[in-house]
Amino acid sequence: MVVISLGGSIVAGREIDVKYIQEFRQFLREESRQRKIFVVVGGGATARKYIAAGKELGLDQFTLDEIGVLATRLNAHLLLGGYSYPMVAKSVEEACAASSSYNVVVMGGTEPGHTTDAVSLLLAEKLGEKRVINMTSVGGIYDKDPRKYKDARLIRRMSYQDAKNMFMKEKMNAGLNIPFDLLSLKIAERSGIEIVIVGREIATVKEVINGGNYQGTVIGNPNIGDK
Ligand code: UTP
Repeated sequence: MVVISLGGSIVAGREIDVKYIQEFRQFLREESRQRKIFVVVGGGATARKYIAAGKELGLDQFTLDEIGVLATRLNAHLLLGGYSYPMVAKSVEEACAASSSYNVVVMGGTEPGHTTDAVSLLLAEKLGEKRVINMTSVGGIYDKDPRKYKDARLIRRMSYQDAKNMFMKEKMNAGLNIPFDLLSLKIAERSGIEIVIVGREIATVKEVINGGNYQGTVIGNPNIGDK
């Protein structure tokens, strides 16, 4: 079983990346012959655009989140196919139930108050799965912002606590370079779910699934001998 959180900006950045979506669909079709795959798709630029408009119009935060959820579901629809449950699952429970008949289940957000990263962790909790593969455009956690600093170093493994500390520090400094929210980290920690942060390359995800070498950051319990 594999749970993937697919960053919205990969699917729908400035443009909708149809070529990439085509490749991802092919990947789902192939993988579905061997295992169950759950994909939780983010809102990307679609969500940001609509939320920004809603903010300008003075809409409340709850409604803005609802708009965000709709954007995630809009993106998620692009991954549906003959290989999948024919609808975007609206809840973790629906996704779990659908997986008894389908090997691929696609979903977006669920309700206001969190992100699709949190949804992917709640889904993993419910499924008893101990790993979520988080695909982001940044491709891991670096010791400094890789877009600004050429010598930024990829951190291969970090504990939940270190990730939480980094998150708090980053939050105060703005310019967030941890592609993760605190709630997601807390859910991961309480159930011991490893978060594997990788880039957008499908080959990398296959390496993670097949236990190969890959570029990315794992957030999890500290290994004996770490630090
Ligand atoms: P995302 O999961 O894409 O949020 O959902 P994000 O992490 O802010 O986006 P990226 O990864 O940086 O691109 C988009 C928005 O939809 C709402 C939130 O407002 C979120 O910011 N949302 C999403 C919810 O309220 N509930 C959900 O379950 C999912």
